[in-house]
Amino acid sequence: MIGTAEQHIKAPSLDFDIHPLLQKRWSPLAFSEERMSEEQLQELFEAARWAASANNEQPWQYVYALRGTDGFNQIWEGLLPGNQIWANSAAALVVSLYRKNFQRNDQPNPWAMHDVGMANAQLVLQATHRDIYTHMMAGFDRNKLHQTLALDGQAEIMAVMALGYLGEDTDLPEKYQARERSKRQRLSIHEFTKAL
Ligand SMILES: Cc1cc2nc3c(=O)[nH]c(=O)nc-3n(C[C@H](O)[C@H](O)[C@H](O)COP(=O)(O)O)c2cc1C
Repeated sequence: MIGTAEQHIKAPSLDFDIHPLLQKRWSPLAFSEERMSEEQLQELFEAARWAASANNEQPWQYVYALRGTDGFNQIWEGLLPGNQIWANSAAALVVSLYRKNFQRNDQPNPWAMHDVGMANAQLVLQATHRDIYTHMMAGFDRNKLHQTLALDGQAEIMAVMALGYLGEDTDLPEKYQARERSKRQRLSIHEFTKAL
């Protein structure tokens, strides 16, 4: 099924040799039965913890649940149907949030979304290092999840993340199998860069 990063269908076609962890990461829909432990999740949060942030505000927050728990079902119920169909096999669901205002003066923090993205990226790469794959989701019901998590006006949801070990794509509905087997597409470097 899954070979080395080089031979796998999801391996990126590179113009430059980037770090193996960056090459290895992709967003699967099929996760295996293998469970994750609380400690494994804590290690991923440690990676997030050391991200850079404007004024060292560390605006990120995470709410998490392992598969088989009531919390997992609660987060899962907040996903849109197109994500629910595959995310139920994840070993963990993690909601990433950010504080909208700076704690020191309660003024809006324009970099909060940037910084939670930085923390998420670190979390994702640490997970990849442990053969744990991650799939970010914007497809969630914001109002429902706000209520489920009993969020105050200061916290906003950035994304929900499904995590787990790679599973068999044959366990997915057919439509999703095709997506799981498709090659990854990207803009070329010159399409998003400009020398000044
Ligand atoms: C913020 C964010 C939201 C996303 N939302 C969804 C989603 O709701 N459902 C889904 O199947 N994939 C979602 N994705 C996954 C992207 O479609 C995926 O990252 C992109 O196609 C690139 O593929 P790769 O991650 O395998 O490189 C999301 C990714 C990000 C970063």
